[in-house]
Amino acid sequence: MSQTHAKIEKNIGLMAILVAVAVSFGGLAEIVPLMFQAETIKPLPGIKPYPALELAGRDVYLREGCYGCHSQMIRTLRFETERYGHYSLAGESVYDHPFQWGSKRTGPDLARVGLRGYSDDWHRAHLNNPRDVVPESNMPAYPWLAKAKLDGAEVAQHMRALKRIGDPYSDADIAGAAAAVEGKTELDAVVAYLQALGTHVSQADMQVAEGAE
Ligand code: HEC
Repeated sequence: MSQTHAKIEKNIGLMAILVAVAVSFGGLAEIVPLMFQAETIKPLPGIKPYPALELAGRDVYLREGCYGCHSQMIRTLRFETERYGHYSLAGESVYDHPFQWGSKRTGPDLARVGLRGYSDDWHRAHLNNPRDVVPESNMPAYPWLAKAKLDGAEVAQHMRALKRIGDPYSDADIAGAAAAVEGKTELDAVVAYLQALGTHVSQADMQVAEGAE
């Protein structure tokens, strides 16, 4: 064993610092390139910032902790893609702050639930009391969503904040936010959000993006 090596191994403080540095390098080498690669930071064709109503629905989704039981990331495994559709690509989530990928699945993955063909009424009934439409369901009921009205000023404020961190909302989008959610409930918003999940990007564009990876 060399002299320096022996010194490091006998000095636990120095050893701890050097271990931390070595591990950080490993992490950085994996993470940093992703922050600059076009296919991870550029939106796929069709992916746009969430319109006002969907954005409000997404906020309710976060507040209620739906992510505690639902992931939004389809893995590259055959049994996943056969059940849920094309596996998720990073370019689909560039406007998700924070993204909802996750791995906890008490319920099904929701990344492409908008393509499943459920009607708005089905979603309403399901959120109000899942047992009404899926008798064996153990998903909690969210009856208060239908009674809570959305606050247009708050949605506009959220869009302004997202614009500040780089989401391309126009001034017209922000000015129109209050009108877009006028008279709508939190239930309307969550349903709009769910119905849009996975519908913005075409299978063909995903094949192209996949080829670029
Ligand atoms: C305690 C876990 C749990 C939580 C929290 C939860 N869910 Fe679920 N969810 C489930 C389970 C289990 C199912 C499958 C049975 C069913 O359809 O009800 C499900 C099914 C669903 C489905 C149908 C998916 C499909 O492909 O058939 C949707 C949509 C859904 N949940 C949305 C939500 C939303 C929105 C929230 C938050 C407001 C939420 N869930 C919170 C467990 C949960």
